[in-house]
Amino acid sequence: MKLMKLIIFMLLLQGAVGATLEIENSCNYNIWPAISNNPSSPLVPKDLTGFLLPPNASKTIPIPSGWSGRLWARTLCAPAGRFHRLNCTTGDCNTGALQCGSLPHPPITLIDINSASSAALNDSYELTLVAGFNVPVSVIPPRDSGCRVASCTADVNAACPPELRLVANEGGGGDQVIACMSACQALNDDVECCSGEYRGVDKCKPTKYNDFFKGLCPSAMTHFLDNCSTFGCASGSDYVIRFCGGV
Ligand SMILES: *[C@@H]1O[C@H](CO)[C@@H](O)[C@H](O)[C@H]1NC(C)=O
Ligand SMILES: *[C@@H]1O[C@H](CO)[C@@H](O)[C@H](O)[C@H]1NC(C)=O
Ligand SMILES: *[C@@H]1O[C@H](CO)[C@@H](O)[C@H](O)[C@H]1NC(C)=O
Ligand SMILES: *[C@@H]1O[C@H](CO)[C@@H](O)[C@H](O)[C@H]1NC(C)=O
Repeated sequence: MKLMKLIIFMLLLQGAVGATLEIENSCNYNIWPAISNNPSSPLVPKDLTGFLLPPNASKTIPIPSGWSGRLWARTLCAPAGRFHRLNCTTGDCNTGALQCGSLPHPPITLIDINSASSAALNDSYELTLVAGFNVPVSVIPPRDSGCRVASCTADVNAACPPELRLVANEGGGGDQVIACMSACQALNDDVECCSGEYRGVDKCKPTKYNDFFKGLCPSAMTHFLDNCSTFGCASGSDYVIRFCGGV
């Protein structure tokens, strides 16, 4: 136990704070942001990897130099079951924990960030709709940095094709679209999932569904082979992650 604590302490020292993520909720509903560290990345402190963020609230997350990981927003969360574990209708972690420590259940708007470990390297970041969409979001690099904003502020849920919709039944009222699935998740076929005989760089082609997401959110990655949607910025940059808002 003591050894474990020492190891964790040393990991924290090693991952000296490099920059910050300012997470803002411009939605008119509660969100529960979640952060997951990539394997072998220095760690974001556990208590900051999941929290409730009410409308208009924000939270600053210090990220260690060289950190890489993903973040997303969970929606419509409530305590469930005998042990009152957190259960979210979108973006759930399947762990029942506020700090979920796992990747989310799609459909989900996902942000990937690789913060550079030295000044000689650049950060890279992307907004991806490869796993579908739940909440609009913008990844905003420092003003005057010249770095690109990765943004998807369109109401993708409202425009979502019927066959991709994730619908919540709002007790008697009309059905509400709460997320838009990727075609792979919704239709589960080889063409959409780039599997079977459609596996591989020369066989895995964007479909009309990729075009649908790309049309609404051109700066987001919408296909596995879409390699033009990863943006770079100087090492140590701070980013604003604004849910339901643009620049
Ligand atoms: C959030 O801020 C906006 C703009 O200032 C305001 O109109 C809205 O009422 C606020 N919402 C909440 C829940 O405080
Ligand atoms: C969590 O919510 C989903 C619906 O969003 C429901 O199907 C599931 O049974 C819930 N889990 C628990 C443990 O209550
Ligand atoms: C970092 O980004 C700048 C500006 O885009 C570019 O000129 C430079 O080559 C990049 N450096 C690396 C190591 O990729
Ligand atoms: C993007 O991928 C295509 C197809 O695999 C490749 O031809 C191209 O060189 C890649 N571009 C970059 C910037 O990596």
